[in-house]
Amino acid sequence: MDPEGQEETREDRDDKQVVTEIMARCFTPALITNTPWEGFHFVGHEIRITEATDSYGAVVWPSALVLCHFLETNAKQYNMVDKYVIEIGAGTGLVSIVASLLGAYVTATDLPELLGNLQYNISRNTKMKCKHLPQVRELSWGVALERNFPRSVNNFDYILAADVVYAHPFLEELLVTFDHLCKETTVILWVMKFRLEKENKFVDRFKELFDLEELSSFPSLDIKLYKAMKKNRRSA
Ligand SMILES: C[S@@+](CC[C@H](N)C(=O)[O-])C[C@H]1O[C@@H](n2cnc3c(N)ncnc32)[C@H](O)[C@@H]1O
Repeated sequence: MDPEGQEETREDRDDKQVVTEIMARCFTPALITNTPWEGFHFVGHEIRITEATDSYGAVVWPSALVLCHFLETNAKQYNMVDKYVIEIGAGTGLVSIVASLLGAYVTATDLPELLGNLQYNISRNTKMKCKHLPQVRELSWGVALERNFPRSVNNFDYILAADVVYAHPFLEELLVTFDHLCKETTVILWVMKFRLEKENKFVDRFKELFDLEELSSFPSLDIKLYKAMKKNRRSA
């Protein structure tokens, strides 16, 4: 029984156990250094991420940890080795780093003002450790997509996205971006943090274009992990 006298379900216990395991991957440095960083353990590596406090993309959000943990613990089923992967809204780059350490060709993308820190974190954590060195590129949702990422050239096996849906004015552009980057065989792994009603509406809009499957749910974090593929695929 929990303190409020309600029966704890098996889902609650699983949620708590996995969330504890996920959060335990994060540590803070024992010594205070000139450049503050936060540490994470994934795929047998110590990953050091430099954060900044001036923008949404400059901290590691819990959704990113959920996606990293998923990639690591499901590496057989969702094998990243030699796969072409793009991350949108990569922020500090943790998810892209983990996908690179797992063997993928990764393109980490975000708004132009985030790219300096993103590149720094990615270089610092992947040099001499990865099969394929990841790329960092600007991708502002909905902007110049055909010029910068032509459909005829895009060949992504996976699109990764952690916590890209919140109260920002670019939700339609985000949807257009998913659609633009996604081929018939592309798998989207998307971790969503639910905060407001607006976000449920985005999921409904998303379902108009993509087949959406909930792979896991973490009620204590208000987070769900989804797999999606384009609707009406010839092979479906
Ligand atoms: C809540 S943060 C999540 C960052 C990272 N994925 C994580 O989970 O730690 C949202 C990310 O989306 C990016 N973003 C917001 N609006 C964007 C836009 N219009 N185009 C591209 N990226 C955008 C932000 O810069 C930020 O990196």
